[in-house]
Amino acid sequence: MNTRAEPPIDPNRPSAARIADLFLGGTHHFASDRAVAARAIELVPETPAIARANRGFLRRAVKYAAGRGIRQFLDLGSGIPSANNVREAARDVAPDARVVHVDLDPTAVLYARHQLADDPRAAAVHGDLLRPAALLDEPEIRDLLDLDQPVAVLLSSVLHFLPDGPALDAALATYREAATPGSVLAISHVTPGDHTDLTERFTALYNRTETPLTPREPAAVERLFAGWRLVEPGLVYCPQWRPDPEDDEPLSDLALFVTLGGVGEK
Ligand SMILES: C[S@@+](CC[C@H](N)C(=O)[O-])C[C@H]1O[C@@H](n2cnc3c(N)ncnc32)[C@H](O)[C@@H]1O
Repeated sequence: MNTRAEPPIDPNRPSAARIADLFLGGTHHFASDRAVAARAIELVPETPAIARANRGFLRRAVKYAAGRGIRQFLDLGSGIPSANNVREAARDVAPDARVVHVDLDPTAVLYARHQLADDPRAAAVHGDLLRPAALLDEPEIRDLLDLDQPVAVLLSSVLHFLPDGPALDAALATYREAATPGSVLAISHVTPGDHTDLTERFTALYNRTETPLTPREPAAVERLFAGWRLVEPGLVYCPQWRPDPEDDEPLSDLALFVTLGGVGEK
């Protein structure tokens, strides 16, 4: 069990992790989060369905990795691991799977630590994925993950909160170099598509949180996989990535063409 002091939480500052939890039907959110979520739903009533479609992609990507024999998962920008979370998906295939959730948001880490209190094969780490050297040196990560063995690096719905620049490039290069051949990288990412006006309004909304939004065009998202070989069907909209009847929720074109997903192998 983790005995470290939890970092402080500011309920007045809306948080992407808690807003995502609200969209996914969770209960870990405050009035400040509900105000942003309500405005997002006003702009696009299907926003919760978009969040569910993203978690569906994440679940299928995790199962794909577990099906390839991967037994360790580094969930970067994990949010609050509630509905359809990485641990459940991995252990459906591999009950011995080890999972580390990492998030910058103290709320996500706090709730994850509560959920994981009795789970010796999982941990939640408070950290910035843009500081990979410090992160990979965290005792919980060193204890749980053996980077001489293949690992699934998960960047689900998080890179669109990080601006382009040397910090992001260097971080992605570090995870790529740390991952042994046979490892997997999964990314889901918001893209403007034909809805640039809407994306701009969403971006303005998330500028009120600790993590402003940086939607990227598909070519820019594909570049985030540099050094990884995209597996079939490549980078597609999340619901189109190896669809599964379990995630078969009807979506309008607006909701369907919002988030890209892909899995790369090393
Ligand atoms: C929309 S949530 C995604 C949660 C989950 N991965 C999913 O796909 O449902 C994005 C999460 O990324 C976290 N985040 C943003 N920037 C981060 C960073 N630099 N390092 C770690 N986590 C970060 C936020 O705090 C938030 O919990």
